[in-house]
Amino acid sequence: MNALEIIEAKKQGRVLEPAQIAHLVAGFTAGTIPEYQMAAFLMAVWFRGMSPEETAELTGCMLRSGEELDTSDLGGPSADKHSTGGVGDKVSLLLAPLAAACGLKVPMLSGRGLGHTGGTLDKLEAIPGYRIHMDNEEFLGIVAREGCAIIGQSGSIAPADGRIYALRDVTATVDCIPLITASIMSKKLAAGPRTIVIDLKTGSGAFMRDLEQARDLARALVAVGGAYGRRMSVIFSDMDQPLGRAVGHACETLEALDALRPGGRDRAPADLVLLTEELTADMVRVAGIAADRESALAIVRGVWDSGQALERMLAWVKAQDGRLDPDREDFGLEVAPLALEVAAPRDGWLAGLDCRQVGLALADMGGARRKVEDPLDLTCGIDFLPRIGDRIARGDVLARVLCAGQDQARSAGERLLAALVFADAAVEPRPLILDRLD
Ligand code: URA
Repeated sequence: MNALEIIEAKKQGRVLEPAQIAHLVAGFTAGTIPEYQMAAFLMAVWFRGMSPEETAELTGCMLRSGEELDTSDLGGPSADKHSTGGVGDKVSLLLAPLAAACGLKVPMLSGRGLGHTGGTLDKLEAIPGYRIHMDNEEFLGIVAREGCAIIGQSGSIAPADGRIYALRDVTATVDCIPLITASIMSKKLAAGPRTIVIDLKTGSGAFMRDLEQARDLARALVAVGGAYGRRMSVIFSDMDQPLGRAVGHACETLEALDALRPGGRDRAPADLVLLTEELTADMVRVAGIAADRESALAIVRGVWDSGQALERMLAWVKAQDGRLDPDREDFGLEVAPLALEVAAPRDGWLAGLDCRQVGLALADMGGARRKVEDPLDLTCGIDFLPRIGDRIARGDVLARVLCAGQDQARSAGERLLAALVFADAAVEPRPLILDRLD
């Protein structure tokens, strides 16, 4: 088999045989097919696309390039959630222990944040002592005992994706649905969950800005999950404003922990509660613990209010050597002091915002990475208070910037203000859940 012929076939728009896709992925991973040929192939896929069968084959080849975890022995149905990423998205920290307390086993492999979006792993590293690396046996042991665990994805999980993604990043081939699908699903399938729920975000803080494109991606993800015997569901959620109020690692972890305290479901930001409940309920329903959405939601709310989810979180974090003190208001997390309050410059309604800029304001303070190797300040953060549609009076506090340096806080504050759009007449609040697909 010859890489040049495979590239030529895709360039002409032909459907590839499984063996051709396997040859390319295996050769590229082993180093016998050079980057320039893989780059040409990726660009051909960008222009010509892939059939559902080709996308499933590509996913399988990338999955089999590394280790696959065996979740058949965890003592309960396994389930996971994937979010396409956004600003203030701390849902995994709530959902994993909630789902565990509902009887699911949740083995989560998570990533770091890059650019304006945050990563669950960085939020967990704000917990003193929290260990993100361990071998698979220890990881699955914690999931079996405590119901959930979250670790970093090691280089042994879908290594072909790591290499192909790096090449896509420098060849303008990231925004391609079959390639995104294979990338996301090869990593998700490797962790072994039988049920996978996707939070597909669209809007100015998401990497998919447009709902129609998001629908195409959702269909491709569900088809690949189905091809590998997984039960899938997708919730399309709005990312035109931060999720919850806290943006920044320690602040977001604290917001999640606070929400799990007794009475926390009523006190926590309504959007965070709604999306967490809906995604967890989908896991519970699709995994077969509840027959329908209403009964799944009732189970999730009951478990949340009983305090069992907070207990699960404390037990799981302790098993990963994290130190949380529930007797302290801040759970023992280090959060930077208040440096600046951002005041509304005028009366009116909040009509919209460029949510990406909120993530970049965090980066201004050292709280997000512009490059993979950048160091991270886990203590700084932003309390972002208004929602689109809120009536605002001049001088109202719109955001609190938490940060050690005044200069950094000022530039973050200026960026936040520039991102806001005000109107003179009332504006409708935005719905959070935009659609669903099962
Ligand atoms: N997330 C991934 O893991 N891969 C992509 O290609 C895009 C988003």
